[in-house]
Amino acid sequence: MSNNTIAERTVRTQWFNEARFGMFIHWGLYAIPARGEWVRNREKTPHEEYLRYFDEFTAAEYNPREWAALAKKAGMKYAVLTAKHHDGFCLWDTKLTDFKSTNTPAKRDLVKEYLEAFREAGIKVGLYFSLLDWRHPDYPHYGDRCHPLREDPAQGNENRNFDRYIEFMHGQIRELLTGYGKLDIMWFDYSYGEMQGEKWKAQSLMEMVRSLQPHIIVDNRLEGSGGETAGTILTANPSFYSGDFHSPEQMIPPAGVRSESGDPVPWEACITLNNHWGYCASDHHWKNAEMVVKMLVECVSKNGNLLLNVGPDAKGRIPHASVKILEEVGRWMSNNGEGIYGCGLSAFGKPEWGRFTQKGNRLYAHIYESQVGGLCLYGMAGKIEKLRLLADGSEVKLTNHWNLQQYPEHAFFFLNPESGDNYPLPDPVDTVVEITLKK
Ligand code: GLC
Repeated sequence: MSNNTIAERTVRTQWFNEARFGMFIHWGLYAIPARGEWVRNREKTPHEEYLRYFDEFTAAEYNPREWAALAKKAGMKYAVLTAKHHDGFCLWDTKLTDFKSTNTPAKRDLVKEYLEAFREAGIKVGLYFSLLDWRHPDYPHYGDRCHPLREDPAQGNENRNFDRYIEFMHGQIRELLTGYGKLDIMWFDYSYGEMQGEKWKAQSLMEMVRSLQPHIIVDNRLEGSGGETAGTILTANPSFYSGDFHSPEQMIPPAGVRSESGDPVPWEACITLNNHWGYCASDHHWKNAEMVVKMLVECVSKNGNLLLNVGPDAKGRIPHASVKILEEVGRWMSNNGEGIYGCGLSAFGKPEWGRFTQKGNRLYAHIYESQVGGLCLYGMAGKIEKLRLLADGSEVKLTNHWNLQQYPEHAFFFLNPESGDNYPLPDPVDTVVEITLKK
């Protein structure tokens, strides 16, 4: 990828780097078995057996305006919906297969309704598209690493025409890029083993994507995945189809993300609220709101985004537990979003008591732990113009308390000046102090 293309990537991803927080939505037929979106793979389910869910899929309580309202309430600025997952079930009225939501009892173009609802809510819209398609007869079955029928010799690949599959796959992507208005993100998933790059005819695919929707940003999984490899996006010479952002999965990179040349690379950690992407009725291992806030702050403190997943149930409802968590996150975001949106890595490193995010000369101290004595801004003596508690704008004053005189190179403050201490913290999850630095 030439420098110019990296410069173009920087322009394309500016809104993304400011938005910082998005909603991932994994929904499809797999919500009926309710054992996660890889249920067919794990249980080696034959096509005919999986089809029984097709005739049950009603989307009876699907109301994407409610989804959009929740995302907005949580402070999310963009969303990504699975238009098609690995099972091949299409949530839009594709002309290239009958395995689609408009042919189920739902009889609805779920993608169209999602896009309309989220745009109406002022939320940028993305679509996830699976490069794998376990339903398609020309996709490798026997011996493939992931196919549900990978161990069945009767599912040999002699009569499968992969070029015909690629034509089908590109055709479906063209449908989404031409039939549904302006999309902000195309989230491809995923490459593995030899199934990567030009195996997907990625060059011609990206030429099509860039010509049809030049502004759109694309993840790195035409070459990579959330695990084995990021593809060439982190190398000194990213390919034309290396994507606009790196997509670490179910983890947050230890030190943010830079290329081999040391250039910052846009990145987004995609993380589930429990332990499943698709709805799993038995999975009650929910991350609480505090953990979500701290994941988001960690991502932003390392110049990255958090794409947080919800997995609606068979009827189209976001699980109640997810709703409660996102509403609580939203309450924190309503007070402290300025310390997230448009913020990124701070030159001040990580403080003992929490994290920093920064936007120009505004440094945001995310305080997780009280400190006995004044709260220490290490090495920042003489660098601070003023401090304000972000939630209510109240003044926070620096202190030169008698027991701090021996540390003149640092700056200290009390959140509770009357009692001369910092506990209890005003916000037990994350108390944010906005520090205006002297220019
Ligand atoms: C992994 C999972 C896939 C999920 C994706 C989200 O690739 O296998 O099911 O959609 O992560 O990043």
